[in-house]
Amino acid sequence: MTEYTVEFVGTGETVSVSDKQTILSRCIEEGIAQEYSCRVGMCLACSAEIVEGEVEQPVAVARGLTEEEAERYALTCMARPASDLKLDRGKYPPSIEGDAESETETAAADD
Ligand code: FES
Repeated sequence: MTEYTVEFVGTGETVSVSDKQTILSRCIEEGIAQEYSCRVGMCLACSAEIVEGEVEQPVAVARGLTEEEAERYALTCMARPASDLKLDRGKYPPSIEGDAESETETAAADD
């Protein structure tokens, strides 16, 4: 088992995550406010842009990300670190950005 350091740019928060754990599970344990919902790779709420480093997330493409997006964005509920990482949370792959915006607009319209 190898431990990696995951840093969130913007807040500077860091968390140690093994290659056997998901980034989100460690954030929850450490009280880091990483957004999430489904925890099974379906809603994409937990997405973060990979500023530096690599992750293992073999399901990302099956969940709708393109191959290129799967290299640039981590679904933190499914992703395990493969190196030390710098992540920018709250950043979504372009192919789903439109969907997320329309859901937000729908939610706002319901208010
Ligand atoms: S929490 Fe839904 S995809 Fe990660």
